[in-house]
Amino acid sequence: MVRSPAHFKGSQLPACLLCSVIPLTTIMNMLCRVGQIRRCAASLSQAQVVASRQKHTLPDLTYDYGALEPHISAEIMQLHHSKHHATYVNNLNVTEEKYQEALAKGDVTTQVALQPALKFNGGGHINHTIFWTNLSPNGGGEPQGELMEAIKRDFGSLQKMKEKMSAATIAVQGSGWGWLGYDKENGRLRIAACANQDPLQGTTGLIPLLGIDVWEHAYYLQYKNVRPDYVKAIWNVINWENVSERLQTAKK
Ligand SMILES: [Fe+2]
Repeated sequence: MVRSPAHFKGSQLPACLLCSVIPLTTIMNMLCRVGQIRRCAASLSQAQVVASRQKHTLPDLTYDYGALEPHISAEIMQLHHSKHHATYVNNLNVTEEKYQEALAKGDVTTQVALQPALKFNGGGHINHTIFWTNLSPNGGGEPQGELMEAIKRDFGSLQKMKEKMSAATIAVQGSGWGWLGYDKENGRLRIAACANQDPLQGTTGLIPLLGIDVWEHAYYLQYKNVRPDYVKAIWNVINWENVSERLQTAKK
């Protein structure tokens, strides 16, 4: 029970100078106001965290949509980049916003329910961002220096590495990716395949160096159902300099 000073008599008065000059009800009202202000401030800071979070954006290509022809058509590149990748970016931003809200509320059930969307759209954004830089109109040929030495050491030759990666990539059931990755544990290169948009590092621990997208949106308009022809052609536009740079970064 809240008692005002009128309820106290003689020695019952609280030994508080503040209470002796300001009615207790006024003090209680002031404390309530402080609590409200604190709660408002907490809500505001949560909203600011959500609002100030950096949004993901679609990265620009460093070459024209038609620059990889005849190996990958301009129509495929345009749809693939401006529609498919853009959709992963948009859905990742929406998912992250919902996740931040759930985090702020301490809503673990919603956080768990959002994990598949985070993996799918986050993986889609990560994978495609790497993919565009793995390709170049001036690509093809052979890698140089340390990358070539590592390929020879771990696969025997460039040709054997390409054969092994092509086979693993073509064999992906449904939609997915073939990868050349770096195993930081033993310093070696490895071939791997991932289903759907599962990101290589997040699901296997391998650091991605070179990815081949074998979702049908990556080749169907040009190669129809003949995935092996698409995988064979893509070696003509592989940007080995980018793969080499990724290896150097991965080894640090
Ligand atoms: Fe794709």
